[in-house]
Amino acid sequence: MGCSTRLKVSTQLWFLLLIFTELVAGRFVVEKNSLRVTSPENIKGPHDSAIGNFGIPQYGGSMAGTVVYPKDNKKGCKSFDDFGISFKAKAGAMPNFVLVDRGDCFFALKVWNAQNAGAAAVLVADDLDEPLITMDTPEADGASAKYIANITIPSALVDKSFGEKLKKAISGGDMVNVNLDWREAVPHPDDRVEYELWTNSNDECGVKCDMLMEFVKDFKGAAQILEKGGYTQFTPHYITWYCPQAFTISKQCKSQCINHGRYCAPDPEQDFSSGYEGKDVVIENLRQLCVFRVANETKKPWVWWDYVTDFQVRCPMKEKKYNKDCAEGVIKSLGLDLKKIEKCMGDPDADSDNPVLKEEQDAQVGKGSRGDVTILPTLVVNNHQYRGKLERGAVLKAICSGFEETTEPSVCLSGDVETNECLDNNGGCWQDKSANITACKDTFRGRVCECPIVNGVQFKGDGYSSCVASGPGRCKISHGGCWHESRNGITFSACVDNEEGKCTCPPGFKGDGVKNCEDIDECTEKKACQCPECSCKDTWGSYECTCSGDLLYIREHDTCISKSTEVRSAWTAVWVIFIGLAMAAGGAYLVYKYRLRSYMDSEIRAIMAQYMPLDSQNEVPNHLNEDHA
Ligand SMILES: *[C@@H]1O[C@H](CO)[C@@H](O)[C@H](O)[C@H]1NC(C)=O
Ligand SMILES: *[C@@H]1O[C@H](CO)[C@@H](O)[C@H](O)[C@H]1NC(C)=O
Ligand SMILES: *[C@@H]1O[C@H](CO)[C@@H](O)[C@H](O)[C@H]1NC(C)=O
Repeated sequence: MGCSTRLKVSTQLWFLLLIFTELVAGRFVVEKNSLRVTSPENIKGPHDSAIGNFGIPQYGGSMAGTVVYPKDNKKGCKSFDDFGISFKAKAGAMPNFVLVDRGDCFFALKVWNAQNAGAAAVLVADDLDEPLITMDTPEADGASAKYIANITIPSALVDKSFGEKLKKAISGGDMVNVNLDWREAVPHPDDRVEYELWTNSNDECGVKCDMLMEFVKDFKGAAQILEKGGYTQFTPHYITWYCPQAFTISKQCKSQCINHGRYCAPDPEQDFSSGYEGKDVVIENLRQLCVFRVANETKKPWVWWDYVTDFQVRCPMKEKKYNKDCAEGVIKSLGLDLKKIEKCMGDPDADSDNPVLKEEQDAQVGKGSRGDVTILPTLVVNNHQYRGKLERGAVLKAICSGFEETTEPSVCLSGDVETNECLDNNGGCWQDKSANITACKDTFRGRVCECPIVNGVQFKGDGYSSCVASGPGRCKISHGGCWHESRNGITFSACVDNEEGKCTCPPGFKGDGVKNCEDIDECTEKKACQCPECSCKDTWGSYECTCSGDLLYIREHDTCISKSTEVRSAWTAVWVIFIGLAMAAGGAYLVYKYRLRSYMDSEIRAIMAQYMPLDSQNEVPNHLNEDHA
C-alpha cells in the first residue's frame, strides 16, 4: 500500500517537473470581467477582478448587486448557517454580493458556502499584494468534488487594496453597489465565432474527466447546429507533453509516449504496471484529431462530436474496450474513411515527428491574449479563455456572447440560455392578454421588448407601451387593434386591411375607430326615412324604414311607392325592350343578306376569270389584288 502510494506520488511529481521544465514558465492569462462600483462616490469607477474557474459567469450579460461583508466567518470556510447569517435579498432589493477574505480553505468552498446562504455572487479579497490570479478548482477528488459541480453563482478575485477599500466603505455605513459586467468578456471581431476545446479521450481521470465527458455529450446538439449553420468554427485540441531527451529510454517514457518520447500523456491509473498506459491515451487522442481532420476535409467537421460521444459509450476503459478495434468500429459506423484516418495517424513507433501532434504542441503555447494551455479541459472562445463551469447553458452563453448583438443564431435564443425575465410582470413589455400576444422576448442577454410577428403579421410600436398589427392581414389579428364589437352574431370592425395602422369606423358608426365607434341614429341624425308615409326605426349599424299601407319603401330614393304602379311600369319596360330587340335583329338580318350576296358575286367572278376571258383584263377580282386595280 505504502509503496504503491509512493509510486503514484513520484510519477505525479515527475510529470509536474516535466511540464514545468518544458513549458518554460507557463504564461497564464487571467480572464477579467469589468467590475464597476456605482456607489459610494469615493470608490466609484471600474476595478479589475479575475473570473473564477467554476460557477457560472453571465457571459454576455451583467449583474448589479450590493456588497455585503459578513461579521463572522469572514473567510467563508464554514457554513454561514452556523452563524445565523443569510444573504438572501429581500423582495425588490438588489441581490447580495458577498465579500470574503482569501485563505484557510479552497476558493470553491467559500463560494459554495456563500451560495448556500443565498449570495448572488462572491468577491474574494486577496490577502497578498500580487497581480490577480485565477481561482481554480482544487485538484483533489475528495469532498470538494461533490459541491463544485453544484456551484452556479459567479465569483471573482479582487486585489488586496481594492478589497480593503470595499471593507472600509461598508464598515463606514455606506451602501456599496457594484456592477459585474461580462458583456465584453468575449470579443466579437466578425460574424463567426471560433472556439476550441482542449480535451482528452481518457475517461478514467476522476471528476474532471467525468465532467468533460458529460459536457461533450450535452453540448453536442448545440455544437452541431452552430457548426452546420456556419455560425462557428470549432477545433478540438489535445495536450501532449514530451519526454526530455535523457529519459526517452526510461520505463516511464516508454509506457507513456509515442514517437520515441515526442508525445506523451500521463498514465490513466498512474500505475505503469497495470491497465491502460499513457501511450494508449496519446494514440486515441491522435485518432480523434485525425477523425476531425478527415471529417473537416469532407466539409463535415461536426462528425467529430458524433465520434467522440459514440466512442465514450461504446469503448470505455472500464469495460476494457478502449482500443483500436473498438475505435475502428465506431469510425466505420459513421461512414468515415478509415484508410485516410490511418494515414493521418502515421506510425507511432517512428523516430520522427508526427505532423498532427507537432501542430498541437505548437498550439499549446499561448498567443496574444490567450495564455498557455496547461489545464484540461480548457475552452477558448474567440481566442479568449473561457472561465467557469463546463456546462451546456453556460458555455453556450459564452459562445453566443461572441456574436455581435442581434446577429446571434437562434440557438442562442433557445430555452437553455433564457433568463426567464418575461415571467415576472411580462418583463415590463407590452402585451395583449386576451389575444395572448407579448412583446417580451427572453434572450441570453436578458429580456428585450420587441413587437412580435404573429401568424405572419408584423406588429409595430415601441414594444413597451404599444404594439399594433400592421400591413396586410393585420385585421385578422385582434382587428388590428381597432374598435370591434359583435351583437347577435353580427360583427362590425373599424379595421381596414392594407391601410397602415388606420382605424376607420364602418358605415353606420362614428367615432375614433380605436377605442369606440358609436351607432349613428340614422332616423334623427341623418334624416333618413323622412317621407310622409314612412316610419323609421334605428338598428345597430343601420336603420329600418317601413311604409304605411300597401306602399313599398325604395331606399335609394328614400320614398314610398305603390306596389301596383311598380308592377305595371315593369311590364311596359319589358315590352319596350322586346320590340327594340326584334327590330334590331331584323335590321341586322337584312344587312347580312346584302353583304353575303355581294361577296358571293365577286367570288364567283374570280373563279370564272381563271377559266375564261372576261370582258376586260382589267377586271381582276378586286378582293385578290386590290393594289393592282
Ligand atoms: C448537487 O446537485 C445534485 C442534483 O441537483 C444533488 O443530487 C446533490 O445532492 C447536490 N450536491 C450537493 C453537495 O448539494
Ligand atoms: C477545417 O477546414 C477549414 C476549411 O474548410 C479550414 O479553414 C480549417 O483550417 C480546417 N481545420 C483543420 C484543423 O484542419
Ligand atoms: C399563450 O401562448 C403561449 C405560447 O405562445 C402558450 O404556451 C400559452 O399556454 C398561451 N396562454 C394562453 C392563456 O393561451
